[in-house]
Amino acid sequence: GAPIEVDLAPIAEGQDIKVFWRGKPIFISHRTKKQIEDARNVNVASLPDPASDQSRVKEGHDQWLVVIGICTHLGCVPIAHEGAYDGFFCPCHGSVYDTSGRIRQGPAPLNLPVPPYAFVSDSKIKIG
Ligand code: FES
Repeated sequence: GAPIEVDLAPIAEGQDIKVFWRGKPIFISHRTKKQIEDARNVNVASLPDPASDQSRVKEGHDQWLVVIGICTHLGCVPIAHEGAYDGFFCPCHGSVYDTSGRIRQGPAPLNLPVPPYAFVSDSKIKIG
């Protein structure tokens, strides 16, 4: 699979889109200030799969979360903007991910992975 470019300009704050890269669903979330704060006001060591929010986004582009939308339990596609943490909810067995895509509740063992990507401009990323 070749890299894909995604224009972020049409994605309003608080919204997200799903694109496909190498056959995998990728969620791109334009996070609100509150969603970013929620992701950072967390005791990282207490998380099932400890990772800081800063380690999961690109510096200077904190409002953008890019994750592979495949539940780390058994591979269902979670629903964005659902669940107790306003992140992602997996309808198959109830795993709940936060606004950083980190697992918070349910059977999934790991965070939603961040795919390889880079900003090619302030409003465009290249995935892959
Ligand atoms: Fe997502 Fe089981 S596949 S909770």
